[in-house]
Amino acid sequence: MSELVRFGVSLEKELLERFDNLIRSRKYTNRSEALRDMIRQELLKQEWEAGGEVAGAITFIYDHHTRELLSKITDIQHDSQEVIISTQHIHLDHHHCLEIIAVKGRVKKVLKLADLLKAIKGVRHCALSMTGSGEEVIK
Ligand code: NI
Repeated sequence: MSELVRFGVSLEKELLERFDNLIRSRKYTNRSEALRDMIRQELLKQEWEAGGEVAGAITFIYDHHTRELLSKITDIQHDSQEVIISTQHIHLDHHHCLEIIAVKGRVKKVLKLADLLKAIKGVRHCALSMTGSGEEVIK
């Protein structure tokens, strides 16, 4: 971890009260930790907008009885090997499967994979959760 630096921040009383309410509702125990997370989040956003590297997970649910669904999902994953680290398949019940794909790579390619899966008829609740691929989160 790098050296800690303290700095003063001036802001309107009302804005500070709103900030304190916000971080209380998010269960932060102090302003510094909340501010650090917000700064990291903004830095990540900037990195993503610049087309940088991300790591994350794509999760989705589908009914495996839907015609040709499994082969479509498999085809897309074979074509996206570059960004797929691993895939976990969970049989939820008689009809439904949950799939979790761990991804790492260029943000554009990860977004494309998520979009392709989302667009398949029968794929539901497809969600992509992204974080940095390392550097900018750890710092
Ligand atoms: Ni299954």
